[in-house]
Amino acid sequence: MSQPRILIIGASRGLGHAMAAQFLHKGWHVTGTVRADAGTPLHALAAQHTDALDIEQLDIRDAAQLQALKQRLDHRHFDILFVNAGITNRDPNQTIGEVSTEEFIEVMLTNALSPLRVIEQLQDKVTSDGMIGIMSSGQGSITDNTRGQRELYRGSKAALNMFMRSYAARHASGQRAMVLMAPGWVRTELGGADAPYSMDENVPKLVNVLLEKMGRPGLEYLDFRGDTVPW
Ligand SMILES: NC(=O)c1ccc[n+]([C@@H]2O[C@H](COP(=O)([O-])OP(=O)(O)OC[C@H]3O[C@@H](n4cnc5c(N)ncnc54)[C@H](OP(=O)(O)O)[C@@H]3O)[C@@H](O)[C@H]2O)c1
Repeated sequence: MSQPRILIIGASRGLGHAMAAQFLHKGWHVTGTVRADAGTPLHALAAQHTDALDIEQLDIRDAAQLQALKQRLDHRHFDILFVNAGITNRDPNQTIGEVSTEEFIEVMLTNALSPLRVIEQLQDKVTSDGMIGIMSSGQGSITDNTRGQRELYRGSKAALNMFMRSYAARHASGQRAMVLMAPGWVRTELGGADAPYSMDENVPKLVNVLLEKMGRPGLEYLDFRGDTVPW
């Protein structure tokens, strides 16, 4: 059997980088994207895994960079395409009415629109029975939102989930698995120091959930334990 391959969009650091390390550990070939020219944790990982990890550049908000990546990946295929990149606004305690227009556009563009642009542009690089995944969040659940807070971030992930539902509806007859992943609240730059989980605890679990989801066509919204998150 040939070595399975994953393309992780937004793998420079944090959860994307930890996912890259875990897929390498499981014997996969990993292509990870970064925005910086050099010096990220993914670059350090690539130096240790020259045969199994290669790095591409992409800012997911940049249509020209996305086109260029698509051309560079010509003739290459992946068993999994996973879009991990995401941001939050500077003050997550702001109510939605307090958020500036500029931050609203930035967070919605990065978290909701750009991941679907990436998927629509790169979907042909995924094998017909492979998987397309996106890092969502439990905060994107409308059902579970009983407390407010992190309102712009929640709205961006709920919009992401809706756009992925539309994509899945358009591809309902296909054989590909599709997944929106809620990784749990994890200590990263985005998650902050108060998060209850470490990357070492949650990333191996979420990778196992992804591997189990492969071969189950259709879209599911799953957490790192493999439980379904209410939409
Ligand atoms: N940590 C949590 O508790 C948690 C919980 C639920 C969901 N998530 C989601 O998990 C994903 C990863 O978060 P994290 O906690 O690992 O955050 P992080 O440590 O801040 O890492 C964010 C990653 O996204 C990349 N990125 C941001 N904007 C980008 C853009 N425009 N183009 C390309 N890459 C971009 C960053 O690249 P640069 O290095 O270039 O900035 C970095 O690799 C996000 O989608 C986040 O919403 C996290």
